Amino acid sequence: MFSGLVILMAYLIGSISFAVVVSKLMGLPDPHSYGSGNPGATNVLRTGSKAAAVLTLLGDAAKGYLAVILARALVGVDIDSWVLPAVAVAAFIGHLFPVFHGFKGGKGVATALGILLAINWVLGLTTLSTWLIVAVFLRYSSLAALISALFAPVYFVFLFGIQPMAMAILLMSALLIWRHRSNIKNLLNGTEGRLGKKK
Ligand code: G3P
Repeated sequence: MFSGLVILMAYLIGSISFAVVVSKLMGLPDPHSYGSGNPGATNVLRTGSKAAAVLTLLGDAAKGYLAVILARALVGVDIDSWVLPAVAVAAFIGHLFPVFHGFKGGKGVATALGILLAINWVLGLTTLSTWLIVAVFLRYSSLAALISALFAPVYFVFLFGIQPMAMAILLMSALLIWRHRSNIKNLLNGTEGRLGKKK
């Protein structure tokens, strides 16, 4: 019963779209209305406001982090129980389908990073490093996210073996890749925008 409430709370925390909130507070247009239309840090960067993009990234990562940390503190669960993976997936689903924003959410990259950092900092930093290496060298935010999503479950299994949390990370990666289907199409036909460029 209490675990169910914590899972619901994770979904509600995940449902706060920082791209929308930060844009509103900083007087920027709604992120659904320009660029890729995605409420995420990469698209907010297309307004030219680095500060807004960084705040979006930090906010979306912090909510994923907070959901997992709170669940650990309140229910005392870890990666070997089914509750923590359910909390992680609930926060992630909240970002993708936010109840507070008409279920029109983002692609989950920053939120997944926060979740991974809270699960284990080595896992989070290794996945972040993967994102950074691809982003710096190839300058595609989406490709960096897609490659990181492929590697995150592998890193987890390498660090902890097959645990319930491995299934959650696999599911989050699959959802993240599915949310990037228009980016995959653009990458394949050479029309994907490079990082920092307006789309
Ligand atoms: O964080 C989402 C990123 O991977 C792609 O964003 O706006 O280029 O579709 P966007």
